[in-house]
Amino acid sequence: MNQDQLKLAAATAAIDYVEAGAVIGVGTGSTVDLFIDRLATIKSRIDGAVSSSVRSEEKLRAAGIRVLDLNESGPIPVYIDGADECTTNKHLIKGGGGALTREKIVAEASEKFVCIVDTAKIVDVLGAFALPVEVLPMAQSLIARKLTALGGQPVLRQGFETDNGNVILDVHNLKISNPVDLERKINQFPGVVTNGLFAIRGADVVLIGAADGVNKIS
Ligand code: A5P
Repeated sequence: MNQDQLKLAAATAAIDYVEAGAVIGVGTGSTVDLFIDRLATIKSRIDGAVSSSVRSEEKLRAAGIRVLDLNESGPIPVYIDGADECTTNKHLIKGGGGALTREKIVAEASEKFVCIVDTAKIVDVLGAFALPVEVLPMAQSLIARKLTALGGQPVLRQGFETDNGNVILDVHNLKISNPVDLERKINQFPGVVTNGLFAIRGADVVLIGAADGVNKIS
């Protein structure tokens, strides 16, 4: 099986977590795109979706799924999203697509976060994937110096603006032995909107598309 087939297997398995009559939280990325395709086949069973990005919002609307603003939806029973890296502790790096802030907000608003990945995303220690940090443009150099002092190598994501009008610093070579501490530390720097570590609020369930089927960590 190729990686796309493994992503599809995880995305398909996530449909079992969709609650009838409820609003579903929907993340961003190629795995989530496959989930939205599946969600479209059962759209009459849900009340609508809250999305974590303009990209997913457009895809949901094109599939005929009602998109709600988080301020009108209230708490969300289930949030489905992918990840760039995932440990067996269900700690994640996210933000490869640049949607990390809205993803973190929708995850926080949700009772259960179901993360859909393929085996290539599972790691022992987070950090081989450069950690995305969303930063207000005026703080870019300040935050780059702070991240360098933490031992990382921040690189500005060229030609990219987030849905919130900010920039992303991708931080290479961080050894993330304590993701909860590092998530807190980086978020405390004035000018940081958020970083792509999802450890304080990690996933509740991870569905891993693998050659032998879908494995679950919960
Ligand atoms: C988007 O900002 C990310 O957090 C995605 O969830 C992550 O990049 C996973 O994307 P893929 O499913 O495309 O690998």
